[in-house]
Parts: sequence; C-alpha cells; structure tokens
Amino acid sequence: MVTTDFMRRLPKAELHLHLEGSLEPEMLMALAKKNKVDIPFQTIDEVRQAYQFTQLQDFLDIYYAGMNVLRTESDFYELTTAYLQQSHKDGVVHVEVFFDPQGHTERGLPFQVAADGIVRALRDGKSKFGITAQLIMCFLRHLPEADALQTFAQAEPYFADGRIVGVGLDSSELGNPPEKFERVFKRARLAGLKTVAHAGEEGPAAYVRNAIELLKIDRIDHGNRALDDPSLIADINRRGLALTVCPLSNLRLRVVDDLQQHPLKRMLEADLCATVNSDDPAYFGGYLLDNFVAVTEALQLTKIHVIQLAKNSITGSFLDDSQKQRHLNEIDRISVL
Ligand code: ADE
Ligand code: ZN
Repeated sequence: MVTTDFMRRLPKAELHLHLEGSLEPEMLMALAKKNKVDIPFQTIDEVRQAYQFTQLQDFLDIYYAGMNVLRTESDFYELTTAYLQQSHKDGVVHVEVFFDPQGHTERGLPFQVAADGIVRALRDGKSKFGITAQLIMCFLRHLPEADALQTFAQAEPYFADGRIVGVGLDSSELGNPPEKFERVFKRARLAGLKTVAHAGEEGPAAYVRNAIELLKIDRIDHGNRALDDPSLIADINRRGLALTVCPLSNLRLRVVDDLQQHPLKRMLEADLCATVNSDDPAYFGGYLLDNFVAVTEALQLTKIHVIQLAKNSITGSFLDDSQKQRHLNEIDRISVL
C-alpha cells in the first residue's frame, strides 16, 4: 500500500495547471462581490452544483464565465498565490503553469493585468513556499490564428527576461486541429520559447501526431488518445516527449468512464514519460496530491509506479539538468527511507 504521506513527501512538479482553473468557489464569490460582477449564484453550494460536465465544452463554458470575476492585477496575484500555497501543502517543488490571456483581453483587460499579477505571485512564491515556477501562455484554439498572433505580439516583452517561457494550445479541441496554429507556433519556436499543446484529450491520435510533427511541441498535454496508435507511442518515446496526464479532469469531463479505466498505468507500461497533474483543480475536485491518491487507488499503483511518476514530473519539466538532478536525488533519498 502506498500511503498518502509518502506521496506528499515525494518532491513533485506540476506541469499541467490552468491558473484560472484554480479559482475556488469561495474566491469566485468574494471577487464577484468586490468587483461588482453579476453571477448567477447565491451560495457556494450553488456554484459547486453547477460543476457537472458531460464533455469538455460544458466545462469550458463555465470556466470562461468564472474567470470574468478576475479584474485587477491583485486578483490574479491572489489566485496564483492560493494555488502555490495549496501546492506547497501537497509537496510540489516546481510548477509550470498556464494562463489564458485571450480569456482576459477579449473582455477588455489589458494583457499586463493578468500577466503582471501572475508573474509577481510566482516570484514571491519562491521565497514564500520555496516553489520554482515557469509561466506558459496558452492560445485559445476556438479563436482564429490571427488572434493568437496578436496575443503573441502583446506578450513579446515578457519573453526576453523569461517571465513567459512558453506557449500552449487549449480550449475546444475537436474541430480545431493543431495545424490551425502552425504559424504562431513557428514564431514562438524562433523566439526561443518552449511549446506545448493539448492533444488527444477529446481529439484523435492524429491530433497528437500533428501537434508533434507540425507544431514541433516539446511536451504533450493529456495525450490519452495516443494510445490508440502504437507507431505514435514509439515515436513519442523516440523523441523523449513527456505527457501531462490529468486523471480527475479526465473523469469529470468523461474522457474516461471511471478511474479504473484510466490509461495512466498503460502509459507507464509502454515506457511513456507520463506525469500526473490537476488541470483545473477547483472544477474537477482535487489538487495534485488528490490526483495521485485517486489514481493510485483506482489503478492499484505500486510504490515503484508512484516514484516513477514523481521522477517523470521532474524529467518532463523544463528545468535545467542540474536542477533536475537535485530533485531526482531527493526523490531517491526519500524513496529509501
Ligand atoms: N482549458 C482549461 N482546461 C482545459 C482542458 N482540460 N482542455 C482544454 N482546454 C482547457
Ligand atoms: Zn488543460
């Protein structure tokens, strides 16, 4: 039996987390009141009741409505700090987090409001919680590529000094394939940024293949459907690409019918560098440690699996080799205690 305490003590990185998806109902209600934003809920229970999804789009509709309460730089600071505080409790030592700038600029906020609040909180998070952090901005794939290119231009001042290290691709997957964003991803690579993309969450294995071959991504977000194609699995392994897998998200968005069917163990058995992540914890019922506990129980994972998952989160990160080695050594040290 792998204990929760052991999973907590293992140093872990979280590589797939949408900051706007960590907006807890309590903070949502408080910010709605402070910023005088009308929301169709009277109580926190009513908010939670609304979080019932049968597919990705059901969630996205509520997620974009929810982020409307975020109005000031300090709102984004508070949101990000609360996430880091929870992550610290879960034994997270490093995070590579997403935000959706278009979800904010589309409703009239300047790009800097979200970006500056988040960047400041991530910097303070290092001294407050000892957590290192990198920031990735995602393009909303349901919008045209021209909008992504415009967002890219707004973000350019944040690249040179590493305040934003990468770009990603999220939102409604089906019907919005990776090739729609080839130009903006090429521009990101030329600017020296890391690139990731949600692929194979609801979309087919071909979307994963195209994200790899056309967008030339450095890491795959979700990637569940890659398992449908053995030659793709071999290719992912040959390229050494990690997968950021999100068990409780997959359950709540009905990507899997139940956690016993979750592909994580099969991914590990296929030698894929699969990692565990929380995606949108305020909406899906759990932060990183909750995901580890739930999937370990459902799939009867052993201590060896769990150690491998912690190590994968470090090797799959964008940390440099010496930082990776330091965390890997610490995982080894804790594993033999
Ligand atoms: N945006 C936030 N969470 C997402 C998810 N799981 N898939 C696609 N887009 C998202
Ligand atoms: Zn996601």
